[in-house]
Amino acid sequence: MSTTTQTPRVALVTGGAQGIGRAVAVHLLNAGYAVTIADCNSEAGTLAEQLCSTHGRCMFVPTDVRKEDEIVNAINATVEQYGGLSAVVSNAGISDPGRTPVEELALADWHRVIDTNLTAGFLCAKHAAAHLRRARGAMVLIASTRALQSEPNTTAYSASKGGLLALTHSLAVSLGPEIRVNCISPGWIDCRSWKLPAREAPPWSDADHAQHPCGRVGTPEDIAAMAVFLLSDAAGFITGENIVIDGGMTRKMIYI
Ligand code: NAI
Repeated sequence: MSTTTQTPRVALVTGGAQGIGRAVAVHLLNAGYAVTIADCNSEAGTLAEQLCSTHGRCMFVPTDVRKEDEIVNAINATVEQYGGLSAVVSNAGISDPGRTPVEELALADWHRVIDTNLTAGFLCAKHAAAHLRRARGAMVLIASTRALQSEPNTTAYSASKGGLLALTHSLAVSLGPEIRVNCISPGWIDCRSWKLPAREAPPWSDADHAQHPCGRVGTPEDIAAMAVFLLSDAAGFITGENIVIDGGMTRKMIYI
């Protein structure tokens, strides 16, 4: 059965000013979408809008995804500017503060990570659902392999990403068949060349690359290509899934 999109292809990418989110924005633009970048970093967002506009119709809407009214504003601005909304990529995310041991993790820091990484996905779904339903659209949530395995002292981050996996299947079952919802769990991704403004960062080591069954650390392009696929009609029979993109690391047994 065809699920041809009936409104213009329009995407909202949270955290789209830099890193994986900006790569997703560029790939969506190259695939013909108009794109709204919703990000809390105004300097990066303004630069991203300039760079992305060479690929297609793109606007930056300053947005803190922890604030419901700002998510609503980004969605409304998108619909007003582009005439609809057919795709949402909930990507904005932050790490645990300084790998704090659980005994010392402040409740406020826990809430900051959960609000940014998990609650924002719920808020995007809540306020985009009517538009996505109209467009028979799709949503992609960016989780992490930390949803599946941990290093010490990543308590809030791992919990937030695990929550996204459950949110994904819950939304898929609740919002289907009109809206498909999937999740991507990246492993190590080298985002250095996607930061704005551009800045030096140490390269990944040979050992970092070699330990991956694929022989290398991932790139934002690896994630963006999957996001564009999951949002497309070619993925019309895929919903509620978590796609792990980690060069095989979570498939590798590691015992010392
Ligand atoms: P990044 O730090 O390069 O970019 C994140 C963007 O989100 C920034 O532009 C930042 O301003 C924005 N952002 C942060 N808090 C926000 C808020 N409250 N409201 C709006 N925008 C906000 O991050 P990166 O590495 O590109 O990560 C993107 C997503 O991928 C995150 O959810 C992260 O957890 C996830 N991820 C990244 C991995 C990696 O190795 N880079 C691995 C696994 C998951």
